[in-house]
Amino acid sequence: MSQSAFFRLMTGMSALALSLPAMAEPPHLVQQGTARQLQVQGKPMLLIAGELGNSSSSSAAYMAPHWKKLRDMHLNTVLAPVQWELLEPVEGKFDFTQVDNLIRDARANNLKLVFLWFGAWKNSMSTYVPSWVKRDQARFPRAALVNGQEVEILSAMAPTTLASDQKALAALMAHIKQVDGKQNTVVMLQVENEIGMLPVARDYGPLAQAAWQGQVPRELTAYLTAHRDSLVPEMKRLWAAQGARTSGTWAEVFGGGIAAEEVFTAWYYARFADELTKAGKAAYDLPMYVNVALNRPGRLPGEYPSGGPLPHLIDVWKAGAPSIDMLSPDIYFPNFVDIVNRYKRADNPLFVPEANNADHPQVAGNAFYAIGQLDAIGFGPFSIESIDDKSGALGAAYDVLEQLAPHILAAQGLNKMAGFRPKALYDETLLYEPQVAVIGDYRFTVAYADIQRPALSSKTAEAGGIIVQIGPEEYLIGGSGVTVTFAPAKDGGGQAGIDSAWEGRFDSAGQWRAGRLLNGDQTHQGRHIQIPAGQWQIQRVKFYRYK
Ligand code: DGJ
Repeated sequence: MSQSAFFRLMTGMSALALSLPAMAEPPHLVQQGTARQLQVQGKPMLLIAGELGNSSSSSAAYMAPHWKKLRDMHLNTVLAPVQWELLEPVEGKFDFTQVDNLIRDARANNLKLVFLWFGAWKNSMSTYVPSWVKRDQARFPRAALVNGQEVEILSAMAPTTLASDQKALAALMAHIKQVDGKQNTVVMLQVENEIGMLPVARDYGPLAQAAWQGQVPRELTAYLTAHRDSLVPEMKRLWAAQGARTSGTWAEVFGGGIAAEEVFTAWYYARFADELTKAGKAAYDLPMYVNVALNRPGRLPGEYPSGGPLPHLIDVWKAGAPSIDMLSPDIYFPNFVDIVNRYKRADNPLFVPEANNADHPQVAGNAFYAIGQLDAIGFGPFSIESIDDKSGALGAAYDVLEQLAPHILAAQGLNKMAGFRPKALYDETLLYEPQVAVIGDYRFTVAYADIQRPALSSKTAEAGGIIVQIGPEEYLIGGSGVTVTFAPAKDGGGQAGIDSAWEGRFDSAGQWRAGRLLNGDQTHQGRHIQIPAGQWQIQRVKFYRYK
């Protein structure tokens, strides 16, 4: 048998796939200034995205009416689950029908895909593993409670589980490489989904018990030592409380309480995810990330899914899972701004795979903030196909982001851009304080009420904006419900005025098509730039200086 026929037999690939032309360079991350960008087919790409509900991608017929709607809402990327039980219904026999259908339908609608690997874990639980895994508790041991009762969560400690998950993910990646290595419809992969232990902080099964009695692995203490000054505050405190020890048992190094148990859990989940990621990347090296269900303030590990890449455990995951490109928060809480600021780090580009769905009043503003202020690679409201975008806000906001994408990508990481939205607290209080950004030679102050009619309306909660510098004195200002005043960046630099302000659109070829000139009432006779609440728009503005 020829080598290719053998490979095809092993992986279930079609002859058509094998006849495709040579591979392009796979999508990968590149550095631009302080930002990391997703590069697809030689060009940076901003993922203006949405995530499908959990079950939708399992049926091509169910999805059929949704694809066009998503493209019409100006999405360029869909995050779609690929379930282990559908991919490998019988051990060693792979069925790529779902994957091929998704790629076919995404291509037909000019959309890219991020696949979500629902492997060993989905929202803590192990419901998407194949039946042959579910039914073999000896080979695939479950995590156990203190009394030994096993739960429907595979233990992260079992090499057999890791090996089977690795084989399945490697087969998926090899298939994607084969059928999509040229076109690059699939641009990234999510490893598992919202990993975390419930309803206790750690696994008490025999393998876990032995590891808990053992020493903290040297890689972890070495990481803590090397990053002593930049650890997240919670980890700095926890480690320092026991004298910042560089060796010892988990209890000796982290204190033995529930916080130590959670660090233990995070370490073994991170190691599993890292080994899984390495196996996937060895087959096809796409950017890979792990998403996280955030913890509510005041809850204990185990009351929330314990040990995922939570804000207080980022160091553990960075130490344990260096092959993972991004730790990515799923954000359903109102304090979006605070959360994303914890995940944007020099060693962690921001990607928001899940967020409140499109009819939530703050979702569009959140997208503008993440992308404009923190150079996010992308943003994806959840259950995107099920929303009808009644207000049209997300579609209109995504239209603006789609038009601005080339300029956003050119500006990322280079101090040429800022993003804005009214900050909200966890208890949903909205703070409307104006926000300030210096971009180029101008200082911008962004407020969320109409300066001529300063009352806040419900629409103001939806506000969000982005300012992108495109020339020495020229800026694109996009968003909704923002009023932007401006001044020279440096004191003593004279006065700043509007040379010209135009509303307009970029056409599909990226050419600016000017609409109205706005130098009268719409700019309060030159005093500010304003995009009224309730509409999403771009203005192209040239400023000038006078004495
Ligand atoms: C977060 C999970 O990652 C999703 O798969 C889905 O279960 C949503 N929660 C539901 O809100």
